[in-house]
Amino acid sequence: MSDLSDSPDRFGLISRALHWGMAVLFVPQFLSAAAHWALPRGDALRGTLWSYHVDLGVTLFLLVLLRGAWGLWNLGRRPEHSGVMGRVARAGHAALYALMVMVPAVKLIGSAGGMRGLSYLGISLVPARETAIAWTQAMAEWHGAIGWMLAALVLGHVVMAIGWHRFVKRDDVLSRMA
Ligand code: HEM
Ligand code: HEM
Repeated sequence: MSDLSDSPDRFGLISRALHWGMAVLFVPQFLSAAAHWALPRGDALRGTLWSYHVDLGVTLFLLVLLRGAWGLWNLGRRPEHSGVMGRVARAGHAALYALMVMVPAVKLIGSAGGMRGLSYLGISLVPARETAIAWTQAMAEWHGAIGWMLAALVLGHVVMAIGWHRFVKRDDVLSRMA
């Protein structure tokens, strides 16, 4: 159990698997979003990359809920952050979590109240409605903008983890998640 759970020196196996597994899955998710934004409608590559956006997005949503629950369960024994930079790191991680939940959540709420319904891995979760619920559509409109905010925050997170901790401070922050 001790290797699976977090400890003050190191993130445990489950936290590390969730962190790196999700980090890998976010790459194709942002690639599909970038193709949706940059390529014209009807483009074959755009169609291919877009084909998995919803299924992967829902999967990431389920994984972040699991990760958040595991993180809360381990809260008292996770590696600590000290000083001003530590508080900044904690705030940055909290913002990452908030956006990882909110980005898919607003679109799921939009689908629940929308006219196209929602399927996950071919299974219909929400049937199409005859009329859309206006406030759910207004929420879903934030999806793209906050999705790009998440991408920017992830970029900052990677620069801090590798650039600052690994190459400038040369501390153990990267190794406790590695
Ligand atoms: C963490 C998961 C997700 C991320 C990071 C993400 C990211 C993004 C981004 C950045 C865009 C904007 C693309 C553009 O500018 O053209 C976008 C668009 C879109 N996403 Fe997602 N998405 C996620 C999950 C989902 C889910 C779960 C759904 C469906 C239930 C969904 C459906 C859509 C749709 C329909 C669009 C195009 C229309 C719009 O921009 O609102 N996404 N996504
Ligand atoms: C090359 C990519 C990445 C590297 C090198 C990296 C590195 C790290 C490191 C070293 C930590 C531990 C920090 C500490 O000890 O306090 C960490 C934590 C964290 N990372 Fe990343 N990360 C990467 C990608 C991502 C991505 C894509 C996300 C989310 C979209 C993410 C979200 C988080 C969060 C929320 C934490 C806080 C700890 C937790 O609850 O899991 N990381 N990352």
